[in-house]
Amino acid sequence: SNEKEIVIIAGDGIGEEITAAARAVTEAAFQKAGVTAHWIEKKAGGAAIDAYGEPLPQDTIEACRKADAVLLGAVGGPKWDAVAPHLRPEQAILGLRKALGLFCNLRPVKIYKALEEYSPLKADLVADVDFVIVRELTGGIYFGERQEATGEGPDEVAWDKETYHRYEIERIMDVAVETAKKRRGKIASVDKANVLAASRLWRRIAEEKAKAHPEIAMDYLYVDNTAMQLVVNPGQFDVIVTSNLFGDILSDEGAVISGSIGLLPSASMGEGTALYEPIHGSAPDIAGQGIANPLGTILSAAMMCRHSLGLPAVADAIEKAVEQTLNDGYRTGEIYKDGMKKVGTAGMRDAVIARL
Ligand code: NAD
Ligand code: IPM
Ligand code: MN
Repeated sequence: SNEKEIVIIAGDGIGEEITAAARAVTEAAFQKAGVTAHWIEKKAGGAAIDAYGEPLPQDTIEACRKADAVLLGAVGGPKWDAVAPHLRPEQAILGLRKALGLFCNLRPVKIYKALEEYSPLKADLVADVDFVIVRELTGGIYFGERQEATGEGPDEVAWDKETYHRYEIERIMDVAVETAKKRRGKIASVDKANVLAASRLWRRIAEEKAKAHPEIAMDYLYVDNTAMQLVVNPGQFDVIVTSNLFGDILSDEGAVISGSIGLLPSASMGEGTALYEPIHGSAPDIAGQGIANPLGTILSAAMMCRHSLGLPAVADAIEKAVEQTLNDGYRTGEIYKDGMKKVGTAGMRDAVIARL
């Protein structure tokens, strides 16, 4: 149908500003395509703690379950750093991922021609960068047993357990294989199998998948080496598949190769309604100033149109408009250089809308 129901969760910090911009761009694109969106605003994170005393109200989960897709800004901030661990704003994201069964997080990293020289890496190193991180999202150390600090003195202790089941590794490998088939057919499976038991199972299953799919070229890399390879030769990667924690860390590293963490979108998918969000956080240091880069959220909305709403042409239109906006020299502060057109969040929004 041409009617779509989208839950929009602003969250905290810059979340309000960037989701408002992404919504305006999406609305403008929908209007041209004759699509009607019903936007349902829900709270999560610190905003929900303030309003309801909990980071992820049941009402928000229910609304997400019923919707066609969820668009989220970011959660967290210093205001809530002292709350009990299970009530932290970040629990909202973790809880939503779990409640919706979103075991797979896609984080595509690419270089825009117009931004080649904004990368912290040399332009010739990044010219060919185009890879996607397939991050496992509902398992591993994020969701394992956990002991908050207990005891006293030198014996005070805390721990977090890394666990992976075969079914969890198999299904994320399957996504990596399907993703690679639509790309250049290369997978780097990233682990720490020289130390961790969970990584040894991870690698064994990756080897099984490689055997079952001879058309795929599978590489096995340790995560420390991968962190280094991303800096010395990021162009070698096509699909990177890795665990929850390693994927979190490597995706910030990958993101900034493109020039700014504010540019990178993501899609979290699995069993239930999929969730779309930029990979950056709530950026408390620049919140409320109208200067945050909204492109990561706008590009997340494009991924939403493609993967959840059955609107690939709208996704293409938004992505092309973003590229044109960058080609035309529009820059938020963190990617600004002399001679370019400096804009804030709203200016970037309007520049993208004008190019749809
Ligand atoms: P962050 O990503 O919020 O900020 C890191 C740096 O990048 C800051 O200097 C920030 O100003 C800058 N930055 C981030 N997004 C930007 C944008 N769109 N435009 C311009 N600059 C941008 O990471 P952090 O400071 O480590 O975390 C802040 C809070 O966000 C914490 O509470 C953390 O838990 C939370 N967090 C939430 C998410 C999420 O909701 N998905 C992701 C990461 C961190
Ligand atoms: C991300 C974030 C989250 C994560 C936090 C906020 C729970 O850093 O989406 O990358 O670690 O997954
Ligand atoms: Mn992260």
